[in-house]
Amino acid sequence: MLDLANMRATLADHYDLAPSLDLAEAQRHIHARMDRVLPFADWAIHAPYVAAINRLKKERNAVILAHNYMTPDIYHGIADHVGDSLQLAIKATEVEAEVIVQCGVHFMAETSKILNPAKTVLMPDMAAGCSLAESITAEGVEEMRRRYPGAPVVSYVNTTAEVKAASDICCTSANALQIVEAMEGDTVIMTPDRYLAQNVANQSSKKVVFWPGSCIVHELYTAEDLRAYRAHDPEVKILAHPECTPEVVAEADFTGSTAGIIKWVHDHKPAKAMLVTECSMATNISDELPEVDFARPCNMCPYMKKITLEKVLYALHTMTGQVEVEAGVAARARVAVEKMIALSRQLGV
Ligand code: 13P
Ligand code: SF4
Repeated sequence: MLDLANMRATLADHYDLAPSLDLAEAQRHIHARMDRVLPFADWAIHAPYVAAINRLKKERNAVILAHNYMTPDIYHGIADHVGDSLQLAIKATEVEAEVIVQCGVHFMAETSKILNPAKTVLMPDMAAGCSLAESITAEGVEEMRRRYPGAPVVSYVNTTAEVKAASDICCTSANALQIVEAMEGDTVIMTPDRYLAQNVANQSSKKVVFWPGSCIVHELYTAEDLRAYRAHDPEVKILAHPECTPEVVAEADFTGSTAGIIKWVHDHKPAKAMLVTECSMATNISDELPEVDFARPCNMCPYMKKITLEKVLYALHTMTGQVEVEAGVAARARVAVEKMIALSRQLGV
């Protein structure tokens, strides 16, 4: 567990992190990307951290990979690459810098380490987990294999390295259907997200059997709420993540990964959009889509929100929070993730 008092004392010894209008002014070009969502006075609070992190990134030869659910100060202020899980995994294979700072949750940092083991991968807060990753172990995968002999195991990337290592192939929300369809045999085991599996099953020719895990963020949305909102505002386009229940997905105009949702909004530019996913998504894309009015239902991911500018600065300053994966596990997990990336490319996902 991070010792926050010690972290703040260490940072105070080395950096002047007091709010600064001068630093805010000097980095106005960065604030311009989040002008509609972050008042300039608040930017003055973040600006010293952003300046220190961007300086330290150069000194440490580091890049920051940030998920679409990061807060706008991280997403727009310090990230070198942003994206969904698939895009970040692919980017991790391409990083040439010595250090990767993963602004996201722990399974994403593990995936980066698995794919690019020579790099130092820093996780600003090791407690940034995921309810899906915590719902299954490698023993759970073996239990499913015993129940459905011969069926291939497709595990969501939202899993630990051990679970990936015990699986035949991984998938993300961007390619789950295509990966399942490409498997041999009639029955496919999907772990650990029951709703992603049910949503895939509704579109697939395969029999999909699944582990009963769920995302604590997306399972909160209900079809009744969406129907009520649409009745109030019939113009709204509802865009849902496939970790939502099948009933919610049935109400949506489009369902896709976080990057898929962002692309849909860019392509269609609806007058009004509701992103049925984590809160920060709509916030992060508000400035680049000023013509879209975002209805903002907000279910926050408590794991993603553990990542802050302060913790990123501390990780880079001390080079602590290094993610390690045991070599044997990493080698087997790499096979499952690389198979997914290769198949995705082959299928044009
Ligand atoms: P994406 O791969 O769609 O970004 O989803 C990751 C995630 O954790 C969603 O909750
Ligand atoms: Fe995990 Fe859900 Fe948070 Fe994504 S939003 S990291 S699936 S708990």
